[in-house]
Amino acid sequence: MRLQDCHNFSDFRELAHRRLPRAIFDYIDGGADDEVSKRRNAAAIEECDLVPNILRGVKDIDLSVTVMGQKLALPVYCSPTALQRVFHHDGERASAAAAAKFGTMFGVSSLGTTSLQEIRKAHATPQCYQFYFHRDRGLNAAMMQSAREAGVNVMMLTVDSITGGNRERDKRSGFGIPFRPKASALLDFILKPAWGLNFLTHAPLSLPQLDAHVDLGGTTMSISRYFTEMLEPDMRWEDVAVMVKDWGGHFCLKGVMSPEDARRAADIGCDGVILSNHSGRQLDGTRAPFDQLAEVVDAVGDRLDVIVDGGFTRGNHVIKALSLGAKAVGLGSYYLFALAAAGQPGVERALSLMQDELLRDMKLMGARSVADLSRANLRHRGNLSK
Ligand code: LAC
Repeated sequence: MRLQDCHNFSDFRELAHRRLPRAIFDYIDGGADDEVSKRRNAAAIEECDLVPNILRGVKDIDLSVTVMGQKLALPVYCSPTALQRVFHHDGERASAAAAAKFGTMFGVSSLGTTSLQEIRKAHATPQCYQFYFHRDRGLNAAMMQSAREAGVNVMMLTVDSITGGNRERDKRSGFGIPFRPKASALLDFILKPAWGLNFLTHAPLSLPQLDAHVDLGGTTMSISRYFTEMLEPDMRWEDVAVMVKDWGGHFCLKGVMSPEDARRAADIGCDGVILSNHSGRQLDGTRAPFDQLAEVVDAVGDRLDVIVDGGFTRGNHVIKALSLGAKAVGLGSYYLFALAAAGQPGVERALSLMQDELLRDMKLMGARSVADLSRANLRHRGNLSK
């Protein structure tokens, strides 16, 4: 199986599966507990049906959107995700370059393996910076300062990770940060020599966003331990309000699920919320963010930009979210598996397929631009507020 044989998410996932040691594939692919929410995220989108319009003159399609002040050529962006150089030795460099090529936003993770300064310098396209609220307030301030100096366009505070989700696949494999394969997983790694050789040739791996400010101690730390030991479980609205004010620019919360919380986000001055259940990696049993979209847009759509992620792998999925009033859709494993499968050409192919599907499906929907889509274009078998 080669890159040119990949035509959709499942193909990229399959190719990544062949290339990655099991522990790493499972870290990307896994969810919390029984992975119910992870499955539900995708299922929810499928439970909603599109109702196209006809004869509207769809020769030229404009896929651009403006979200949190950023003009994007596509209504999708690359969500911030951790540890990309573990998945492919080019890591964030490759994904960011692909995102820039398609004129869309790249999310740099505070658990990323390439520095936000380097990525900011390399591309003029918008960049958001995802970070967490640590117990150590000095660390939070230092990270905000670095982001300011780097020229980050949008700050994105993740608010659904106060403690680590119960990711049983990672428990079994011992997947951790900084990444040091366990001896017991050795066979797994021996079976993927190409990955291993690339990984070792490009070692050592670092977490520049954190390493610049804190000593992680050099011992293996699971994602769950990082969340549980370093993040502030007593984080409150008042604390985040101060952060939003200090930043003074575009600021959004990632991991909002309820209309009430979205209202509070608007009250403290956020200009975006990302409806997300962390792709089912944190609290299992949560409703799909897609199913919360209409309610949240009705509650705050006139006060801030509502964005959604979780389970979006097709152009028609994105069109459904836009029809409900989302301003943009975040992609995660969709581009990560493509990265793991083939580096920058992989992510470019994934974004190119997404762009093609969006262009084709917008034509078939009778929509020349996102502004032409509305709730009249959807029927849901579940419970949408409108
Ligand atoms: C995860 C964190 C790092 O889901 O976002 O693994």
